[in-house]
Amino acid sequence: MQYYIGIDIGTSGTKTVLFDVMGNTLASANAEYPLYQPQNGYAEQAPKDWADAAITTLRAVMEKSCIAPEDVKGIGLSGQMHGLVMLDSENRVIRPAMIWCDQRTTAECEEITQKVGAQRLVAVTANPALTGFTASKILWVKNNEPENYSRCAHILLPKDYVRFVLTGEYATDVSDASGMQLLDVTNRCWSDEVLQKLGIDKKLLARVYESPEITGTITQEIAAKTGIAAGTPVVGGAGDNAAAALGTGVAEDGKAFTTIGTSGVVFAHTDNILIDPKGRIHTFCCAVPGAWHVMGVTQAAGLSLKWFRDQFCGAEAETARNTGIDPYELMDREAAASPAGANRLLYLPYLMGERTPHLDPFARGVFFGLSAMHKKADLIRAVMEGVTYSLRDCIEIFREMNIEVNSMTACGGGGSSKLWRQMLADLFGCPIYTSASQEGPALGAAILAMVGTNAYRSVPEACRAVVKTAKTCEPDSNTIPVYEKYYQLYRRLYPQLKEQFAELSEL
Ligand code: XUL
Repeated sequence: MQYYIGIDIGTSGTKTVLFDVMGNTLASANAEYPLYQPQNGYAEQAPKDWADAAITTLRAVMEKSCIAPEDVKGIGLSGQMHGLVMLDSENRVIRPAMIWCDQRTTAECEEITQKVGAQRLVAVTANPALTGFTASKILWVKNNEPENYSRCAHILLPKDYVRFVLTGEYATDVSDASGMQLLDVTNRCWSDEVLQKLGIDKKLLARVYESPEITGTITQEIAAKTGIAAGTPVVGGAGDNAAAALGTGVAEDGKAFTTIGTSGVVFAHTDNILIDPKGRIHTFCCAVPGAWHVMGVTQAAGLSLKWFRDQFCGAEAETARNTGIDPYELMDREAAASPAGANRLLYLPYLMGERTPHLDPFARGVFFGLSAMHKKADLIRAVMEGVTYSLRDCIEIFREMNIEVNSMTACGGGGSSKLWRQMLADLFGCPIYTSASQEGPALGAAILAMVGTNAYRSVPEACRAVVKTAKTCEPDSNTIPVYEKYYQLYRRLYPQLKEQFAELSEL
């Protein structure tokens, strides 16, 4: 038999899933870990937590499935992008990883823009300098912790640190490397020009592979800890969104997906490289060799609802404990009792600054229009709608750039909410599909392992064989005009608050 494993190293936890060659799930396991926020705008995690979670969950899927170790033909990795892991010459982690939503690097972004030149930076790396991306984090360590920087011998992304632990290889893939702002995204290799202008030694960086290529094999030590056979190939894999794209069947022009996870992403495949000159959406190499994708990012999508749940939904958590119903399901039911527009309440989801369309690390969350008549149901609904307005902002930019979208699939935790999918359908004005498998990035990573070990000839062929569409949600013609009015008002709020957000950050 032939089985494949996808490991997705997410922000709230790691999920490892064992699939057969048709993409059916045989076993899956999760392990959670903390996010540290030592200061407003900082976000860090411990790389050891990711590696431990990968090992624990690998062992768990092998134990649960009872398959023979040699039947696992390949492993693919997917992970949160942009995080900075620094290792010393003995491969010890030097400092906690600064992750994708860390916003401390405004000064370093200015430095990058000034040293490379704004236009040249977009031409080579396909994106303007962004606080979330890895290059500005590297410079932050260089500028603020020179003793740490001088000890640094290797720079890795989160999933690539896990790869190093599993295989002993320093490797990355083009899709994840695109989010470092050091890659020549058109030519799919490190940019000597950018590295030289920023004074970063290329020797610190991992070797770059296309996503389905084999990058190394499982070591004896990891085999003993997990029950996977030593020598099992590990392929390049992909950043979480590029992997989720494959897991939802988005591997050809015209196909797109929206995910509502911790962050929210609207993603479209493109066979030809397309770059937004204003830098409001990202262009990255995608996991299909020779192709790219464009994507807009809402920093705090699911994170907004999780924040609301953790701060204000103690009662729902209690009911959930007593009934076994997921607290998000209970919140969903409450939100459904509030009408579209949440009784004239708008929410700006900028809890962690914003990327699309505002590129502003100082932006913060806002409830606009609060009244004494509002109930918790209205606030929950406003949070869900605010996130959806922000995702609609991404669609507006796609339309402006003539990016063709014929099919939109929803995924991520938020995509499993019927109410949230309906909001997407109404605000995007198109049907929203879901895929039959809920495994998104883990399935995408496993598809790459299938292609890399020759179970399929190409990534699109594997996606067509493996990914099946499930339910469809149609837009509601009665609700569309209601949301349109709220959305147009929502769009006007940020520009009115931009200066005040910056002022607030100085207080
Ligand atoms: C993508 C991004 C997030 C992270 C975490 O640019 O920052 O999607 O990968 O999920």
